[in-house]
Formats: sequence, structure tokens, C-alpha cells
Amino acid sequence: MPETHSNPLDDPTANPFEVAAQAAADIARLTGVENHDIALTLGSGWGKAADILGETVATIPATEVTGFSKPALEGHVGTLRSIRTPGGKNVLVIGARTHYYEDHGVRRVVHSVRTAAATGAKIMVLTNGAGGIRETWTPGQPVLISDHINLTADSPLEGATFVDLTDLYSKRLRDIARSIDPMLDEGVYTQFRGPHYETPAEVQMAKHIGGHIVGMSTALEAIAAREAGMEILGFSLITNLAAGIQQTPLSHAEVIEAGREAEPVISALLARVVEAL
Ligand code: HPA
Repeated sequence: MPETHSNPLDDPTANPFEVAAQAAADIARLTGVENHDIALTLGSGWGKAADILGETVATIPATEVTGFSKPALEGHVGTLRSIRTPGGKNVLVIGARTHYYEDHGVRRVVHSVRTAAATGAKIMVLTNGAGGIRETWTPGQPVLISDHINLTADSPLEGATFVDLTDLYSKRLRDIARSIDPMLDEGVYTQFRGPHYETPAEVQMAKHIGGHIVGMSTALEAIAAREAGMEILGFSLITNLAAGIQQTPLSHAEVIEAGREAEPVISALLARVVEAL
């Protein structure tokens, strides 16, 4: 008897790009929008951007799209939303992120990015909530991602797929973001596996090897987006200073609260940047 898989990506013989093409066909059918121009993954604190970006054409539960199975840990189902901006761009807003620490494999982590590419998106905007290593940063501050260090020791690329990662977080797009907010600082995002936060010693290591931001997403997604030929813009909301940089222990509640407080301001910024892309 062949094994049955509730998610086609759990079948090791499946081609992840074909699964992404099916997902894109689902999105076209369910939203009525044939192609998207830009895709946007919304991390902690960035959720409100979807409400102010433009007119929502359709919102669909991620579970209705091939390959986006139920989130393992959270109790709620994520959504995918098609938005038309005042300038006439079709934006696919992805509110359903699978984290590497959920242990479903990298194919599932990057499925949303591959799906975005299959819908036609040429630009992938990746946002997250993260810890700041630079002491001059304060919680609630958005920063641009200029580059990354991938400490997961994993890759979404399969086989001998040699992909260049120079200028992975497009300088052109960062310059556009800074034309909207000249105060935007930038830094190198360091992806740890999580879900535990880093130790102060790990944060010092990240600092010594050139990191400025610590988080648990984005780097693997960015690699997949580059493989798919998309141009990438990355934003981190600094929800807390990283362990040992801030003197108090970290808590998930603190991260969520910082996101909630910053949400109106950073969402407005993100909406303006997306319209300028
Ligand atoms: N480390 C890793 N991930 C995070 C942090 C952090 O300090 N804050 C929010 N996400």
C-alpha cells in the first residue's frame, strides 16, 4: 500500500516546485487574481500592514491551498490575502509562516516563498520580529536586513544547486525603503534554529561573526526566494534587545507586546514602501 500524506510536501518523492505550482493555481482560482506582482510575508508586529495596503480582493484560509497544512503549534489557521494597491499592484500577503523549529522540514518552511514565485511575484518582502544586538536600537524600531548569517546548517536547495547569494537583500529595494524613511538603519540577520531564545554567549558569538539581529526565520526563506529568481526586501522589527544585551530575561509576551505597540507605525511604513516598489 502506498503511504498517504496529508501534506504533499511530506512525500519525499514529490517535486516541491510542482506542489508550489499547484498552490499558485489554487490561489488564482480562489482569489480570481491570475498573477501577483509582489508577495509579503508578515511576521510578528507587521500584521496590520495588510489592512492599509489597499483593497482586499480575497482572503483565503491557508489550509485550502496545496501544501499549506495546519500550523503545528499555533491554534489558529493562517490566511493568504490578495490585495490591490491604489497604484494597481496585486500583492499576495502571506499570514501563514512555517518556522524551521516546527520540524516539518525545509520544504514546508519555504513553500510559501516558492508559491509566491509561482503566482508571478517578482519581489518578495520578508518581515519578522527579532532581537537586536546593536545597543543603539530600541524595541519597537524597524530595521532593514542588509545580509544574513544562516546558523541552521540547513538549506532549502536540494542537490548540487549552487546559487549566488551576493546582494541577497537587494540594495536597490533597501534604497527605495530609505527614500520613504531615511532614518531606517540596517543590519545582518542571524538565523538560529530556536525555538529557545539564544544564550548571552550565543548572542556574543553572533556579534563577533558580524551579526546585528537574531531571529528564527527569514534566512532560509530568502535563499529559496533567490533560487526562484525574486528580488528580496527584508525588514526586522526589533521587539527586544538580544539576550545579555538587555539586562532582563526575554519572554514571548514581551515580544508580542512590542509588536503590538509598534504595529500601527511600522505597518504604515511597510504599506508606503510596498507602494513605492
Ligand atoms: N531571538 C530570536 N528570535 C527572536 C528574538 C530574539 O531575541 N526576539 C524575537 N524573536
